[in-house]
Amino acid sequence: MRVYCAENYAAMSRRAANIISAQVITKPDSVLGLATGGTPVGAYQRLVECYKEGDLSFAEIRSVNLDEYYGLSPRHEQSYRYFMQSNLFDHIDIKPENTHVLNGLAKDPAEECAKYNQLIEDLGGIDLQLLGMGHNGHIAFNEPGDDFGLETHLVTLTERTIEANTRFFERKEDVPRQALTMGIKNIMRARRILMVVSGADKAEAVYKAFCGRVTKEVPASILQLHPDVTLVGDKEALSKLIEAGVAVCG
Ligand code: F6R
Repeated sequence: MRVYCAENYAAMSRRAANIISAQVITKPDSVLGLATGGTPVGAYQRLVECYKEGDLSFAEIRSVNLDEYYGLSPRHEQSYRYFMQSNLFDHIDIKPENTHVLNGLAKDPAEECAKYNQLIEDLGGIDLQLLGMGHNGHIAFNEPGDDFGLETHLVTLTERTIEANTRFFERKEDVPRQALTMGIKNIMRARRILMVVSGADKAEAVYKAFCGRVTKEVPASILQLHPDVTLVGDKEALSKLIEAGVAVCG
């Protein structure tokens, strides 16, 4: 695992965007696995700037997103499809038909999940998977205790995740209780993983994930077994990892 420690959120975002840009430049038809949430927003902004400056093209890029709230329409402002459109897709030259987000309104969630697994396979697998991490160590919506062997599936969100995501909704009651998510198995098959973490409130989760035991209770800990992981964080989020003596690059 490579760990990059950035001075602050802006520097972390630039570093993450540089790694994604390098992937896009070296393999212009890459399959990017994308994440939502607060942490990657700065990296997406930087990618948009690189595109507008003429340094990057997404014309041949294909994307698959990690997850979507179950029950939200793609037009709902808090849906992950809406997030991706407004933070990235609407501002770059990616072809709409090459962007894939699970359908939160699918009548048959099991069928939607099976179709998504097939889609990822048909695309040839994920070249670079971007991840954030929840305070409880979740990745995508794989919550503590979930099976490491699962592919895309329907999950019931934990109280902690609902609490954390309430900041994006008017009221806690509005946060959907279920989501469709890629499973750990899909994520572990990605050829490269890029995780972004920011803020002191993530330090404990980062420490447990990368210095603790590999356990279902901390879903991100499985990444210790992936051969190509890059962790990019600000110094607050990485503080406990650094204290524990994990080697970091500047
Ligand atoms: C989002 C996702 C989630 C987030 C995680 C961290 O697609 O899969 O696992 O990455 O909840 O969210 P933030 O970045 O808001 O702290």
